[in-house]
Amino acid sequence: MMEVFGVIGYPLGHSMSPVMHNAAFRETGYQGIYVPFEVRPENFESAIEGIKALGIRGINITIPYKERILEFFRQRREVREIGAANTVDLKRKTCHNTDVDGVIGALQSSGVDAKDMEVLVVGAGGAAKACVYALKDDNEVYITNRTAKKGVELAERFDVEFIERERLETLKFDLIINATPLGMKGFPEKLPVSEKILGKKPAVFDMVYNPPETLLIRKALSYGCKAVSGVDMLVYQGAKAFEIFTGKKAPVEVMKKAVVSELKKIA
Ligand code: ATR
Repeated sequence: MMEVFGVIGYPLGHSMSPVMHNAAFRETGYQGIYVPFEVRPENFESAIEGIKALGIRGINITIPYKERILEFFRQRREVREIGAANTVDLKRKTCHNTDVDGVIGALQSSGVDAKDMEVLVVGAGGAAKACVYALKDDNEVYITNRTAKKGVELAERFDVEFIERERLETLKFDLIINATPLGMKGFPEKLPVSEKILGKKPAVFDMVYNPPETLLIRKALSYGCKAVSGVDMLVYQGAKAFEIFTGKKAPVEVMKKAVVSELKKIA
């Protein structure tokens, strides 16, 4: 029997998840279909009741509901620690945070060995949280943020160090992660850290995936840095969600191809 999956967010904009997951279903022969659900905040609770009643098998959760979803399902450990979820398995009634797997998968697949590195995470929102959680046990993680207060709070929560932006150039990092929307389509095309920092040749991971090659990635490559694109993050968080949903190994390359071609279409 055909199983139904989807993504819930508001506004949903042009979500990559449907093409990515439908390509994976086609490739693996899994009898599934994945659809976008744009749900307004006042309807969120009834939408969750609705997906349960309709027997929808799994959903992804995106902005602005990654925290609000928590009260409805059993939380996996990483969800409790991060305070946000992006994947719900309705059969097992559990919610997961596969952004963590997205971070690890993107780095690994790009040949960045995220162990014993000095890592700087720029930003203090949901994306930054998943990064810090994913990397803090095996690396020395530092946080910087435009609004110091928010950055300090995140640093304290995960017991890592906050660094003021003014001090960054005096330090050296092995890996810089952009977890802000700088460089994203519709946001300022500005670098999240100065060129002087890129000149020290850290590996660079930009969580922004639209456009696939951001200003940060372009500059990083021009300085000879190893660069990891947000497209990989998107694909690996989706791959882990696919595995939770279906119990099958995700066809990562096929999913990536589907995303890249969809991004080209909307460019
Ligand atoms: P997400 O859930 O995608 O991480 P978010 O919670 O809105 O999104 O967090 C966005 C992060 O990007 C924040 O750390 C924000 O900094 P502030 O805490 O100062 O708001 C950062 N950010 C957004 N726009 C920025 C900009 N123009 N310059 C620098 N940082 C920016």
